[in-house]
Amino acid sequence: MNKLLGISVLVVVISVAAYMGYESRFYDAPDAKTYDVINAEGKVIDQFTIPKITDVVGHKDEEAILYGMRLLNETARLLPDNVGNGLNCNSCHMGQGKRELGAPYINTYNRYPRFNPRAQRVLDLNERINGCFQRSMNGKPIPIDSPEMQGMHAYMKWLGGDVAPGNTVKLTSLEFFKVGKYTANANNGAQVYAAQCGTCHGSDGEGIKDQFGDYIFPPLWGDDSFNIGAGMARASRAGAFVIHNMPLSVSREAPLGQITLSEQEVVDVVEYFTKKPRPDFAGKENDWPGMDNPADSRY
Ligand code: HEC
Ligand code: HEC
Repeated sequence: MNKLLGISVLVVVISVAAYMGYESRFYDAPDAKTYDVINAEGKVIDQFTIPKITDVVGHKDEEAILYGMRLLNETARLLPDNVGNGLNCNSCHMGQGKRELGAPYINTYNRYPRFNPRAQRVLDLNERINGCFQRSMNGKPIPIDSPEMQGMHAYMKWLGGDVAPGNTVKLTSLEFFKVGKYTANANNGAQVYAAQCGTCHGSDGEGIKDQFGDYIFPPLWGDDSFNIGAGMARASRAGAFVIHNMPLSVSREAPLGQITLSEQEVVDVVEYFTKKPRPDFAGKENDWPGMDNPADSRY
C-alpha cells in the first residue's frame, strides 16, 4: 500500500512538473539583469541587459532570430536528420543560452573565430556549432549556408546585443572543475544520483518523455545521450555544469542560496554518469593532435 502511495505521489509530481513546463529552455529571462561591458583592456565601457524575446518583434531579422531560437530549443524534433540522440541544444545551454553559469551564448557571436584547444586550431562559429552537432548531439553537421545555420547565428547575434566585436559582456565564467583535487567515488556517486537526479533523469539515466515522445527530462547516458567526444563527457566540464545548474531549480544561485551538492558529491556523481555507456565518437583520433589527451578525456 505504501509503495502504491509512493508511486502515485511520484506520478503526480512528474505530471505537475511536466504540465508547468519545468524545463528552463522555455523560460524567458526572468528579470532584466544588467552587466558591465568591458573592452580588450578590461575597462568598463557600457552596460548590457539580457534581451527579452518580446524585444524581437519588429527587429529586421525577426524571422531568422525566432527560427534560430526554436531550433536551439527543439533541436531533436525539428532536425531529426542531424540530431542522433534525444537532446536539444538548450538541454545544456540553459535558459535559452541566457543563464550566466549555464553555458550562455551571450558572448558567443563576438568570440569567434577562436582558438580551440581540442582541435589545436582556430574554429569559426559554423565549425563550433557543428562540433556540438557531432558530439553533444551525436549527429551530423548542418550545411553552413542553410537557413538553419543562419537562424542560429541570428539568435546568438541578437542575444549579444549591440556589443561590438572585441568587447565582452562581463559574466562570471564557468570555471572548469578541478577534478584532481578530489578522489572520485563512483559508488557514492550512484547514491547521489539516486537521491538527487534519478527522479528527473530516470533511474537508469534514460530520461523522461512527454506524450508526444519528446524528452522533457533529457537522458544522461545510453544511446540517446551525448557521445564520448562531447565536452559534457569530461568530468571537468560536467562538474562545472552540474554544480551551478543541477539539480534543476535548486542551485547555488537560487534566491535563498541553497547549496544541495558539495564539491565532493559533484565529483562523485559526475564520475558515475559520465563514465556510463554512451555512443562512440568517430573522429576521436583527430582530437588534441600532436599532444596527450587531457586526463579526463574518455579516450
Ligand atoms: C550535452 C550538452 C550540450 C549540448 C546538447 C550542446 N552543447 Fe554546445 N556546448 C556544451 C559545452 C559544455 C560547451 C563548452 C565547451 C567546452 O569547453 O568543451 C559548449 C559550447 C558551445 C559553443 C561555444 C560557445 C562559446 O561562447 O564559446 C557553441 C556555439 C555551442 N556550444 C552551440 C551548441 C549548439 C548549436 C548545440 C545544438 C546543436 C549545442 N551547443 C548542444 C554543451 C552542449
Ligand atoms: C527537477 C528535475 C531535475 C533534477 C532533479 C536534475 N535535473 Fe539535470 N536536467 C533537468 C532538465 C529539465 C534538463 C534540461 C535543461 C533544461 O531544460 O533546463 C537537465 C539537464 C541536465 C544535463 C545536461 C543535459 C543532458 O542530458 O546531458 C546534465 C548533465 C544534468 N542535467 C545532470 C544532472 C545531475 C547530475 C543531477 C543530479 C545531481 C540532475 N541533473 C538533477 C532536470 C533535472
